[in-house]
Amino acid sequence: MTTVTLVQGDITRQHADALVNAANSSLLGGGGVDGAIHRRGGPAVLAACRALRASRYGKGLPTGQAVATTAGDLDARWVIHTVGPVWSPTEDRSHLLASCYRESLRAADGLGARTVAFPALSTGVYRWPMEDAARIAIATVRATPTTVEEARFVLFDTHAYETFARELGGPGRPG
Ligand code: APR
Repeated sequence: MTTVTLVQGDITRQHADALVNAANSSLLGGGGVDGAIHRRGGPAVLAACRALRASRYGKGLPTGQAVATTAGDLDARWVIHTVGPVWSPTEDRSHLLASCYRESLRAADGLGARTVAFPALSTGVYRWPMEDAARIAIATVRATPTTVEEARFVLFDTHAYETFARELGGPGRPG
């Protein structure tokens, strides 16, 4: 049974077996979480991403998929890069956001990671509404069979933290 926990803070300062990066398909960095992970992870992370682009992911990492690299100088063993969907008012991409969490857990299982830290995927540059993103994130982590023991959501601000806390305590909570 995976314990879901919440923390308010900077994911790049977390200690965990794996930190999940809110990447883009290029895997070559960006802003937000992506920028912070590469800044604090150092060149080893980008080098590993470049190697993935030169091999398995020649066309980039598709939305909803996840791939692990070294965590470089971060206080973790691995970074699991996943590409969230950009929110759309006309097209329901929820399944792609759910896939990010499911595939990140699958990658973690493949590594033997027991603790995984997630940001609120797609809720920044990709503009996904926080409440819906929290609902999808928590429901997917709860529904995915995995050997991960702790799934820790690291929320950057109070709004995100309180939104996730409401979803965590909401319907579907045992007892
Ligand atoms: N730690 C934890 N959460 C963070 C951090 C951090 N250091 N920095 C930002 N966040 C939060 C944001 O406030 C937002 O709630 O993470 C959430 C996701 O925001 P983004 O990082 O913008 O990710 P996303 O919305 O998935 O967009 C991905 O942005 O940075 C680019 O290269 C990235 O193109 C990709 C896109």
